[in-house]
Amino acid sequence: MNVMQDLDLSTIKLLLVDDEAHCTKLMEAFLKQAGFSRITMTNDPRQAVQLYREVKPDLIALDMRMPHMDGMEVMRQLRQVIPAEDYVPILIVTGELDAPTKHKALAEGANDFLNKPVDATEVVLRIKNQLQTRRLHQQVRMHNEHLEAQVRLRTKVVEQTQLDLLNRLVLVSEYRHDATGAHAWRVGRVAMLLAELKGLPPDQADLIKKTAPLHDVGKIGVRDAISMKEGVYEPAEFEAMKAHTKLGSKILADSRSPLLMMAREIALTHHERWDGKGYHKLKDVQTPLSGRIVALADSFDVMTHACSYKTPLTLSQAREEIARHAGTQFDPELSGLFLKLIDRDGETLLADVTGTPFFG
Ligand SMILES: [Fe+2]
Repeated sequence: MNVMQDLDLSTIKLLLVDDEAHCTKLMEAFLKQAGFSRITMTNDPRQAVQLYREVKPDLIALDMRMPHMDGMEVMRQLRQVIPAEDYVPILIVTGELDAPTKHKALAEGANDFLNKPVDATEVVLRIKNQLQTRRLHQQVRMHNEHLEAQVRLRTKVVEQTQLDLLNRLVLVSEYRHDATGAHAWRVGRVAMLLAELKGLPPDQADLIKKTAPLHDVGKIGVRDAISMKEGVYEPAEFEAMKAHTKLGSKILADSRSPLLMMAREIALTHHERWDGKGYHKLKDVQTPLSGRIVALADSFDVMTHACSYKTPLTLSQAREEIARHAGTQFDPELSGLFLKLIDRDGETLLADVTGTPFFG
């Protein structure tokens, strides 16, 4: 295939900058004869940048020695406004150039040189060569953009699949107690709102939202007689119940996925207390922030929702409970933020999560 023949010259836009009118006219004549038709010319180098903006040419042919502004300065200004990814070739048309000037012109972004007086055949061939290179650049760029779009799409599918599976795991873990998983999704949303209020970046708050619902996944390994018991636990039963944090951590261990790593951290630490009297005796900031956040979100949701053996607290009763346990059970700073959250939009915290949780 002759690649040269693939260029549709009638669609190509050229910009010629030369202070001498007879030079631009001569070039125009050569180029029109070769099949180019969209040619813009100026004999005032100061107009070059403005014309570039108006015409958006595919190639610029530029004289070097001009009054008011020499070719080097025009090229410097052009390179500042031409996006590098557009790859617009600049062809320097000039008399004999010494080597240092040539080097400087190349460093400033010149792509090729044409000696004056110009030769019709050489002008056309050199311009076509540069246009062909430009087209190859554009093709590579389009190909890369296509690949990047494909990668983004595939990544999105993988992320959605991960989340989809994670949410099925939430349903499995909650199924014996609450087949709808409503508690788990509410804890996820409340934990996210608290994380946002704490000032965590959106991606971290989102990670907490997605993983907090798995906090009790370890209950799947606790006997029904204990995990579904209503009322006060015997000491041995309590020990067995406490094991759900370690079981959850074990189920979620050994993954490099940020989702599973965060889920594991929360499963292990969501029953710690600020005063160090929690399941694993972690004190204040020894408990990771995610665990401290979910401890509050989980407790609040349990307080404010009915189950078979207790009536729910009202919003203001729950508010009092949190305020009373700030600094003992709960992180005092997070407790303060949580009270703000209740005051700001308490009813939202109580409502079920609507819509499918499966795609976040
Ligand atoms: Fe738990």
